[in-house]
Amino acid sequence: MIYTLTLNPAIDYNMELPQLKTGGVNRSAKEYIRYGGKGINVSAVLAQLGEDTEALGFIAGATGDRLEEGVRAMGVKTGFIKLKRGMTRINVKLHADTETEINAAGPEIDDAALGELYAKTDELRDGDTAVLAGSVPGSLPRDIYERIAERLSDRDIRIAADAEKELLTAVLKYRPFVVKPNIHELSAIFGVDIADIPAAEKYARELQKMGAKNVLVSMGGDGALLLDEDGDTHFRAAFSGRAVNTVGAGDSMLAGFLAGVGKGYEYALLLGTAAGAATAFSEGLADKRMIDELLERSGGDEI
Ligand SMILES: Nc1ncnc2c1ncn2[C@@H]1O[C@H](COP(=O)(O)OP(=O)(O)OP(=O)(O)O)[C@@H](O)[C@H]1O
Ligand SMILES: [Mg+2]
Repeated sequence: MIYTLTLNPAIDYNMELPQLKTGGVNRSAKEYIRYGGKGINVSAVLAQLGEDTEALGFIAGATGDRLEEGVRAMGVKTGFIKLKRGMTRINVKLHADTETEINAAGPEIDDAALGELYAKTDELRDGDTAVLAGSVPGSLPRDIYERIAERLSDRDIRIAADAEKELLTAVLKYRPFVVKPNIHELSAIFGVDIADIPAAEKYARELQKMGAKNVLVSMGGDGALLLDEDGDTHFRAAFSGRAVNTVGAGDSMLAGFLAGVGKGYEYALLLGTAAGAATAFSEGLADKRMIDELLERSGGDEI
């Protein structure tokens, strides 16, 4: 089972309007909701790829119930902890002449709920994967990913980490199976400006020296580089196509990598690249049909 963790999930309320006027009344022409959070994105794409996956994290109130229903409808199992107070946040995304986002803080997570989350992670078994992705809300300890990684380290559990700066580097000592920084995050970790593939490879090797087994560096439309646990590097250019929305492309790539890795690293990178592109080319997240189409386009010979 691949478990994903989304500490502060959100319902994204999207509104489309021709123009946004601040300080006045606006009317939207179209609205739609999406269920947001990095871990949930990873689970959603894993489900498209036929993988068994369960989303963990905290939900609260009626919006939390709605989010859980929505996540289940995507074919993802849920093991959310229900907080006694507050409500799962609704983030408002305004698509007008400009793009405006208002992201809510989310509910307060108390120590009892945190204890429940730790207890949940104790249920993971040998062979399971835990995806630790996204930011950590202010009411939780900053070192939560590190604490979870430590708790998991007494079992044969693969950790996949996709988070910024010290949230990512702090788990390296627990030898995560894969880390997936994008090129900007990799640059920020080392305080440098990584502009080409040789530099990306150099700093991927640094992360490997610090403990990561596999390092997957995504570079948006410029493709992705994988430094595998044997020290071999693989590069794959991005699929060409019209990008509609690249938010979640990295989460989708991580899902593809995890779903494909049983067939080797070359295939894991291919499936990751196809899943990332399928999200970039869609309004929402990647679906199976588009991923399959892209795989077909790549020619079957490398699979
Ligand atoms: N415009 C694009 N065209 C084709 N493929 C893309 C495009 N953008 C992203 N991808 C694919 O998805 C992968 C991941 O994208 P990216 O590097 O943008 O991730 P990210 O910044 O972590 O995104 P997020 O955190 O929003 O999920 C890329 O390596 C690439 O293979
Ligand atoms: Mg990302």
